[in-house]
Amino acid sequence: MSSNRTSGDRDARYPAETSEQEMPRHATTTVNRGEAAQRRVLLKDVRPYGEGEPVDLLVDGGVIAGIGSGLEVDADEIVHAEGAVVLPGFVDLHTHLREPGREDTETIETGSTAAALGGYTAVFAMANTDPVADNAVIVEHVWRRGQEVGLVDVHPVGAVTVGLDGEKLAELGTMARSGANVRVFSDDGKCVHDPLIMRRALEYTRTLGGVVAQHAEEPRLTVGAQAHEGANAARLGLAGWPAPAEEAIVARDCLLAGHTGGSLHVCHVSTAGTAEILRWWKSQDRPGRVSAEVTPHHLLLTDDRLSSYDPVNKVNPPLRTDDDVRALRQALADGTVDCVATDHAPHAEQDKCCEWSAARPGMLGLQTALGVVVATMVEPGLLDWRGVARVLSERPAEIAGLADQGRPVAVGEPANLVLVDPRARWTVRGAELASIAANSPYEDMELPGRVVATLLRGRITAAEGKVRR
Ligand code: DOR
Ligand code: ZN
Repeated sequence: MSSNRTSGDRDARYPAETSEQEMPRHATTTVNRGEAAQRRVLLKDVRPYGEGEPVDLLVDGGVIAGIGSGLEVDADEIVHAEGAVVLPGFVDLHTHLREPGREDTETIETGSTAAALGGYTAVFAMANTDPVADNAVIVEHVWRRGQEVGLVDVHPVGAVTVGLDGEKLAELGTMARSGANVRVFSDDGKCVHDPLIMRRALEYTRTLGGVVAQHAEEPRLTVGAQAHEGANAARLGLAGWPAPAEEAIVARDCLLAGHTGGSLHVCHVSTAGTAEILRWWKSQDRPGRVSAEVTPHHLLLTDDRLSSYDPVNKVNPPLRTDDDVRALRQALADGTVDCVATDHAPHAEQDKCCEWSAARPGMLGLQTALGVVVATMVEPGLLDWRGVARVLSERPAEIAGLADQGRPVAVGEPANLVLVDPRARWTVRGAELASIAANSPYEDMELPGRVVATLLRGRITAAEGKVRR
C-alpha cells in the first residue's frame, strides 16, 4: 500500500509486515477513447468527502487537474453540482452480468449502464456464466466487451475450478496472463469446498498476485436449503441454511490463507458468527491477507421477509436475523468486514415469479447499493462519507489490486469519481432500473442519496439519471 492512501485505520489494524505484502497493483490496457478523455470538465461546488466548504474541481486529460474555490478556467463542460459530495468512483467486487449465456436477464452493456448510474467506475463480473469464465477466451471477451461499452471497467473474475465443478483447478495462470489480466478468482454461486483444491488455489494465486474470492457454503450442510435456518423457515416449512455452513468454511479458509500466505476474500458475509471469526482472525499476529465483503441486502433486510413468500427475497446466502444485521453493520463500521459488494444477480421473471423452491436466488443491487449504504450506515452515524469512500471504493480497489481506482480525491489522481446528492431521496421501481431483469427487493422503498454524475477517466459516463457513451 502506498503511503499517500487515505484508509488510515487499516494501517493501524494490520501489522507492518502485512502492509508490505499488499498485493501489487496492476494495470490493464484500457481503450483510449480519444478526445473524449481529453475534455476539460469543471465540477462547480463539490465537497470532497462531504467535508468543508464547496470547492471547484477541474478534470483535464483524465486526471484531477485542480481543486480550489472559484476556479476560472475554460472548460468543455461545467457541472453545477450544488454542494454534491465527491468520492472516488465505486468498485464492485461482486457483480453477475450474465454474458455470455443469459443475455435475456443482463448483458455487459445493460449491467454497465446500471453500474455507471449507480456510481461505479469498475465492476468485477462473476465467472458463473454459460459457458463458465474458466479460460482465457471467455475472460478476454468479457474484458473487451466491457471496454467497447466503455461505461465502467468490467474486470472478469476467473473461475477457480473447471466448469465450477470444484474438482479440477482451472488454468488460472493463463487467465492471469491473458489480455484480461485476471487477478480475482472465484467459483461464486458454488463453494470451493474441497480443502485441498482451496489450498492449491491459494498457493497458485499467490504466485500470480491474485486473490481467491470464496462463496463460503459447506454444501453438505445446505442440501436442499431454501432459507435461513431459524424460526421463520421452520414455521413456513422451508429447509434451513444454517449459519455454521458459512462459518465453518470461513474459519477453515482463514487457516489455509494463513498457512499458504495466499490471499482470501470472503464473499457476502451474512452471519454474526462469520464477523466474529474474521474479527478474531484479523487480531492474530500474522493474519495474512484476508478480506471480506457484505452485501447491501444483508445490511438491511432480514428473514422476516419470508412471510410474504415472495421469491424476490430468495438469495444465497439467505437473509438472516436482526442480530446478524446489527453485527454486520458494526463489523463494516470497524473494518472487520472490509467493503460492500453488491452480488447484483439479475434473474428472468419466470425464474423469480414462481414457487419459492423453484425460484433462483439473487437480487439486483448496482443502482441501489449507495442508497442502502446511506440508509444503514451513514444515517445511523456508523460511517461518514470518508467511510463510504473506504467501503465502496478504496478497499475493493486495494483488494483487487487496481492501480487507478479507489484513489484519493486529490490533484494528479485519476478522475474516476462519483458525485452524490446527499439530501435527495428517491423511490425504487424495479422496472425503471437499467437492468433487463427487475428483481429488486427494494420495490417502492424510498432510499436516501442519489448519484448526480459518474466520471470514468475524466469522461462523464452518467449524469442526471442517464448514461453517456
Ligand atoms: O443469490 C445468489 N445469486 N448467490 C450466489 O452466490 C449466486 C447468485 C447468482 O448467480 O444468481
Ligand atoms: Zn455467492
